[in-house]
Amino acid sequence: MKGLILSGGKGTRLRPITHTSAKQLIPIANKPILFYAIEAIVAAGITEIGIITGETGAEVRAAVGDGSAFGARCTYIPQAAPQGLAHAVLTARDFLGDSSFVMYLGDNLVRHGIVPVVQEFERLHPDAMILLAQVAEPQHFGVAEVVDGRVIRLVEKPAIPKSDLALVGVYLFTPAIFEAASSIAYSARGELEITDAIQRMIDTGGNVVPHLITSQHEASVATWKDTGRLEDLLEANRIVLDDMVPRARAGGIADDVHIEGKVIIEAGAELRNCTVRGPAIIGQRTVIDDAYIGPYSSIYHGCTVRRAEIEHSIILEDVRIENVTGKIESSLIGRGCVVHESRRRPHGYRLMLGDHSQIELG
Ligand code: G1P
Repeated sequence: MKGLILSGGKGTRLRPITHTSAKQLIPIANKPILFYAIEAIVAAGITEIGIITGETGAEVRAAVGDGSAFGARCTYIPQAAPQGLAHAVLTARDFLGDSSFVMYLGDNLVRHGIVPVVQEFERLHPDAMILLAQVAEPQHFGVAEVVDGRVIRLVEKPAIPKSDLALVGVYLFTPAIFEAASSIAYSARGELEITDAIQRMIDTGGNVVPHLITSQHEASVATWKDTGRLEDLLEANRIVLDDMVPRARAGGIADDVHIEGKVIIEAGAELRNCTVRGPAIIGQRTVIDDAYIGPYSSIYHGCTVRRAEIEHSIILEDVRIENVTGKIESSLIGRGCVVHESRRRPHGYRLMLGDHSQIELG
């Protein structure tokens, strides 16, 4: 089998971060989301991976390289325009050839990986296998109607969903998908929808098998997250930090530092006069000084947090947060941002924000 990861798209709901970088490279627990997808595919024994890229292709390529760091071989397949998931499949046709393949959306996080799914696909040999998860708001996803264990209908983001079964962004296909993807029309949002292509397979007698990943109603934490919005990213960050295996602390930790719970401190980090309450991760060369880092915080490489408090947040590379009285929480702060309080008069908020930034003043 081969792997096909989709890493294009504009990430409009995560602007301004996605004005300047790929949403798939936003770090979750200090590792780009995309890397979890690659690792999940490699863990399932698939090492030949095609990566569909868009405008952010150069950045994705620079981050992933030839795939050898993951034990894989990665081939980059530029998609001229983001015209939908079925269009991406057709774009990758030469790369995929006669192989069955797993298609994985690069902004999706599947908590327990895909090993059992790939094994089931290889055992059953269907034309396609779709992953489904029960969700509270199915109208935001492709929705499946399943009767007696058979998929009968798939609808992309229906206003009135017929079930609470959302299509997870991981699909397993035989080359039969090419025929189906070639014979559908563009949807109202101007895309060739994979949902329509799979529906075509069903309508023409193809065997499409559903695989329900654990019900969200049973589990207290989600098993799958599409990280399209800030709150989903924060939840994905919580899931991964909760699951993280503690590692030896690699940074410099002064005597006046209190570390509580599961905290990962990466190489070259320096902690002084602070409390870090896990689960949390402090990135390489980051300085935490006279500060509090609370649960579910991921502070990436090269940051400085001084005389400030942060909780339940994702902080990207080279951010400086200094002299902030109020606690920063449930936030996503992009690369190289500076947040500080000044004593200058007149008092007031002085902001220089990128387009589509969101500020909530408490
Ligand atoms: C896409 C699919 C949708 C699926 C979702 C999963 O939606 O079209 O069927 O449920 O991924 O992440 P999009 O993210 O393109 O809106």
